[in-house]
Amino acid sequence: MSINIKDVTVEFVDGLIITAFEDGENNSSELENIIKSTTFKGKEGEIFYITELNEKVKYKIFVGLGKKELLNGEVLRNAMAKAAKKAKELKIEKIGVEFFDTDKICVGGRIKGITEGIRLALYSFDKYKEQKSTYSPEIYISGVPTQKLEKATERLEEVNNLVDGVIKARDLINEPANSIYPESLAHEAIKIGAECGFEVQVFDEKECKDLEMKAFLSVGMGSSKKPRLIVMRYMGDNESSDVLGLVGKGLTYDSGGYSLKPSNSMVGMNGDMGGAAVVIGTMAAIAKNKLKKNVVAVIAACENLVSGVAYKPGDIIGSMAGKTIEVLNTDAEGRLTLIDAITYIIEKEGATKVIDLATLTGAAIVALGNYTTALMCNDEDFYDEFMRAADVTDEIFWRMPTFKHYRKQILGEKADLKNVDPNGAGTIVAGMFLKEFVQDKPWIHLDIAGTSDTKSPINEYIVKGGTGTPVRTLYYLAKGPCGCHKK
Ligand code: BES
Ligand code: MN
Ligand code: ZN
Repeated sequence: MSINIKDVTVEFVDGLIITAFEDGENNSSELENIIKSTTFKGKEGEIFYITELNEKVKYKIFVGLGKKELLNGEVLRNAMAKAAKKAKELKIEKIGVEFFDTDKICVGGRIKGITEGIRLALYSFDKYKEQKSTYSPEIYISGVPTQKLEKATERLEEVNNLVDGVIKARDLINEPANSIYPESLAHEAIKIGAECGFEVQVFDEKECKDLEMKAFLSVGMGSSKKPRLIVMRYMGDNESSDVLGLVGKGLTYDSGGYSLKPSNSMVGMNGDMGGAAVVIGTMAAIAKNKLKKNVVAVIAACENLVSGVAYKPGDIIGSMAGKTIEVLNTDAEGRLTLIDAITYIIEKEGATKVIDLATLTGAAIVALGNYTTALMCNDEDFYDEFMRAADVTDEIFWRMPTFKHYRKQILGEKADLKNVDPNGAGTIVAGMFLKEFVQDKPWIHLDIAGTSDTKSPINEYIVKGGTGTPVRTLYYLAKGPCGCHKK
């Protein structure tokens, strides 16, 4: 699928997507007539189409943007997503999207909303099916004012690269665990790094042993598919010593280990590398758009399985940071892999700020469902910076507390720490465990257990399966404040 900016005539395309405001003086008389004579009123997300206008243009799809005053990026993405799905249903292969005027969203923001809405909504994962729903239309955004053309073209390229990053993350999450395991995930990272322009270094089990990553390696012991530490580097700003560190949970499968999951909970655990997929997708978008930032990403990739050499409940293990841990539940494995990755990214890669992303706790799903990502943080300025980026993307985060009371829930009896506690607050306790390893660095923890993949669509453009959440927010965080996406 491709989206371009090009003025098209009705003869050139097979269908046009035209937006309408509920309370607008819609400039075309055709639209005014439709609003007068049909049920279509331009309400938010409302769809209406007409067909067989002449031999060339087969369809016009009208989509409502609702009230002018209430228009924002999310309304636009959802409306465009609906129109795109209608175009797919009608099998329109060449689509024109009429650019529209508004003072609520800048030109670049409109290009972004149109592109994200359409491309993300048309995503599907069907590579293993005989009947593929291959729909890959040519799309032209038509009618961009000449004096804005350069800016619009620049933004289109940027957002196309960003959407590519989201789609890469979705694809990786949707792959089954017999296709994506530590070694093959590392190969994907290498391939994407070469394509997008970031460096990738992969450490095998022996090299991780040399780094004393005892917690990470304990989790991976039970599988014959051996662990890999995947390090991705993009140094876009040699005038700065700041390094943003991204750590993604990379359990390519989580059976629970000896604290075995019930069968129903095990289904879908190929997606326990959602954090890893998101950091790969984010690195791809950052590098492709050549951001002036230094960003390093680390994935401690392994499988949590049962075997004669697997780690066991009751084991006391070490960690790269030196702290010892009582493993009371082998299913609380994510935190054990993450702490070594966090220590590594700070001590070996010089990360000055750290964000970790992990499908970490079922409790996050209980608390917040699949719409909201749980967030924990130890630094107010970093939190504000992050939430400003989230405001641009409409990805949703909610902060959990880090009251020191909760620290009691991770202190071990026989060792420094323990990996689970029976007193509830599962999401917070997991975050508190990670917090022990971030030293003095500004840190954000994102528990994406609920938001990384979904059994049913979350909105019009976050379809079922891997979501790629929150690639877009991380990208805009790395890019820094821009201020032109929204008024
Ligand atoms: N990967 C799971 C968390 C998860 C559950 C992600 C459901 C996505 C959907 C994690 O490793 C896990 O098993 N967590 C345990 C922790 C518990 C043993 C303290 C959980 O949430 O049950
Ligand atoms: Mn687990
Ligand atoms: Zn897990």
